[in-house]
Amino acid sequence: MNAVTKADKIIFFLIVCLVTLFFSGCATEQERAEERNQIQFLIGVSQANLIEPWRVVMTREIKEEAGKHKHLRVVFTDAAQSSQKQINDVEKLLQQGIDLLIISPNDASVLTPVVAKAYKKIPVIVLDRAVEGYDYTLFIGPDNHSIGKQAGKFVADLLGSRGGNIIEIQGLNGSPPVRDRSEGFQEVIDKYGNIKILDRVAADWQRDKAEDEMKKILKKYPDVDIVFAHNDPMALGAYKATRELGLQGVSFVGIDGLPGANGGLQLVKDGILQGTFTCPTGGKEAVQYAIDILNHEKGIPKKIILRSNKITRDNVALYTDRQNEPVPNVKAKHKIVLGFSQLGRESQWRLANSASIKQAAKDEGIELLFTEADQKQELQIQSIRDFIKQKVDVIAFAPVVEDGWEEVLQEAKTAGIPVIISDRTVNLDDSMYTTFIGADFEEEGRRAARWLVQNMQGRTNVNIVELQGTVGSTPAIDRKKGFEEILREHPQFKIVDSETGDFTRDEGKKVMEDCLRRNGTDIQAVFAHNDDMALGAIEAIEESGLKPGKDIVIVSIDATKNAFNAMLAGKLNCTVECNPLLGPQLMKAVKTLVAGRQLPVRIITSEEVFSQEVARKELPYRKY
Ligand code: AHR
Repeated sequence: MNAVTKADKIIFFLIVCLVTLFFSGCATEQERAEERNQIQFLIGVSQANLIEPWRVVMTREIKEEAGKHKHLRVVFTDAAQSSQKQINDVEKLLQQGIDLLIISPNDASVLTPVVAKAYKKIPVIVLDRAVEGYDYTLFIGPDNHSIGKQAGKFVADLLGSRGGNIIEIQGLNGSPPVRDRSEGFQEVIDKYGNIKILDRVAADWQRDKAEDEMKKILKKYPDVDIVFAHNDPMALGAYKATRELGLQGVSFVGIDGLPGANGGLQLVKDGILQGTFTCPTGGKEAVQYAIDILNHEKGIPKKIILRSNKITRDNVALYTDRQNEPVPNVKAKHKIVLGFSQLGRESQWRLANSASIKQAAKDEGIELLFTEADQKQELQIQSIRDFIKQKVDVIAFAPVVEDGWEEVLQEAKTAGIPVIISDRTVNLDDSMYTTFIGADFEEEGRRAARWLVQNMQGRTNVNIVELQGTVGSTPAIDRKKGFEEILREHPQFKIVDSETGDFTRDEGKKVMEDCLRRNGTDIQAVFAHNDDMALGAIEAIEESGLKPGKDIVIVSIDATKNAFNAMLAGKLNCTVECNPLLGPQLMKAVKTLVAGRQLPVRIITSEEVFSQEVARKELPYRKY
C-alpha cells in the first residue's frame, strides 16, 4: 500500500498550484478551496523527452484530456533523453505520492526495473515503447512493424510496375520502433525484385540531422526515387536537402501524421509528402484508462494497440476535419443492434464467453442478435450475411478458423456495417475490420512452456503430448507457436505426439487414449490447448492406470473453475488463464463505433498463470 496520505497529496498539490498560479494569474480564494477539495487522484507523467514533436503532442493530449476531469491533477517530468534522469524522475514521483504513473520510456529495457518497482505500489500505464516482461498495468502503443509494412506497400504502389530506388531514413539507432518499422518495411519491399533500398541513414528522429545526412549521401545516389523516413520531420529534412541540391522528381513518405504547422498532415496537404502514416500517441487514451483503473473498473485490458491511418492527398482534408470534430455526445436514435456470431459451444470457456456477451449487452441496453455455429464456418458466414440483410448497426464474431473470411467481410464493408473481431482472429489485413478484442495466444503458449520448463527442471528427458485445438484456429496456431518457441531453448523437452482434440473434452479423451496406446508409458507431460481437452486427457490417463498430475504432468489453458477443481484434486498441475469475459469490452467498443469514433486496432486482455499451489486460494474468485 502507498504510505502517502491524502494530506501529503494536498500539500504537494498546493506547491504545484503555487508555482502554477505564479505564472498564470490568480483564482479566487473560494475557487482554490473548491479545487483542493476536488482532487481525488494525482497522476505522474514521466516523459522521455520534449524535443520530438510527437512527444510534445503526446504531452499536450494528456494535459487536454486530464483537463476535462476536475478531480484529477497531473504532474509532468521531462527526462531530456536521459534514461538515468527518467529513473530518478520516477523515483521522485513515487515519493510525491502519485496514485498512478504514466510513463513513455526513453530506453525501454533500462527503464524496466523502475517500472516494475512502481508497479508494486501503484498502477502503471506504459506508453509507446513496451518495457520487458509484464510488470505494468496497461501498455498503449502503436504496432510499428505493421506501420512499416503499410509504408512498404504504399511505396511499392507509388513506384508501380517500373520499380525504383529508395533511401530509408531511420530514427535513433537501436530503438525498438526503428527496428520494427524497418523490418516491416523491408519485409514488403523484399517481395519486389525491381525495388531496391539504396542506403539507410540514422538521423535520430531530427529534421536538421536528416537534412545534413541527406545532403551528404544524395550526391552518391542521384537516381533515388523515394525517401522513406521513420518520421515526418526527417522526411521534411530530406525534402529540404533535395531542394538545396536542386534534385527533382524525388517523392517523400513519412510517419506520424501530426496536426499543426510543419506536422505531417500539413506536409501532405502542401504536397511535400506523398503520404504519411499516423502514429497515435495514446496520450488521450492513457488518461481515459487511468481514470477507469483508478475507479477500479473491471475488464481493463493489458495491451491496447492503436490504429495507424494512411494519409494521402486524397483523404487528408477529411481526416483533419474528423480530428477536429468535437466528440459527439451520442444518444442513438434507436436501440443499438449488434449481430454476434458465436462459433459454437465446444468448451466451458465458450459458454462463459457467450454468457458474458449476453449479460453485457443487457447491461448496456444493446439489442443482441446472437447465433451459434456448431464450429462450422459456413454457418458463421450465413449468420453474418443475415446480419447484413437485417442492417444491424455493428457485426461482431468469433471466427472458428482464420482463413476464408474475405468475401463476407467485403460484403459487410460494402454495406457500411462495421465489424469487430472477438476472441480469435482472421487472416486478413486490419482494414477489413475495426478492432480485435481478445487474448495473446502466443504468449499463453509461452507461459505454458515456461511453467513446464521451470517445474520439470533437472529431468534429462521430457516427452510431451500436445493436444491441439481446432485445426486452422488462431489459438491452436499461436499457442503451438509460443510453446515451441520456448522449448527450442530446452532440447530435453520434446513434443513426441501432437494431435487435434478440437477443443472438446470428448475428443481430448479419445486423442489421449490413442497417444497412450502409441507411446505406452513413456510420456512425462501433456500440454493441452484448453482445459476441456486436459480434463478428457485426465480421464484417459486414469483409465490407463496412471496418475494424472503425478505420473504425467499436465498443463493447459483457460483457467476455468473445472480446471481449478482438477488442480485441487492434484490431477492437473497448471492452467494458463485465457479470459473469456469479453462482453463489457465488446459493448464499449460497439458504443464507440456507433458514436462515430475510431477504435484501437487490437485490445488484448490481461491474464495470469495458476498452479496447484494457489488453486485453493484463487478458486473462490473465479468467475467462469
Ligand atoms: O478461442 C479461445 C479458445 O476456444 C479457448 O481457449 C477454448 O477453450 C475455446 O474453445
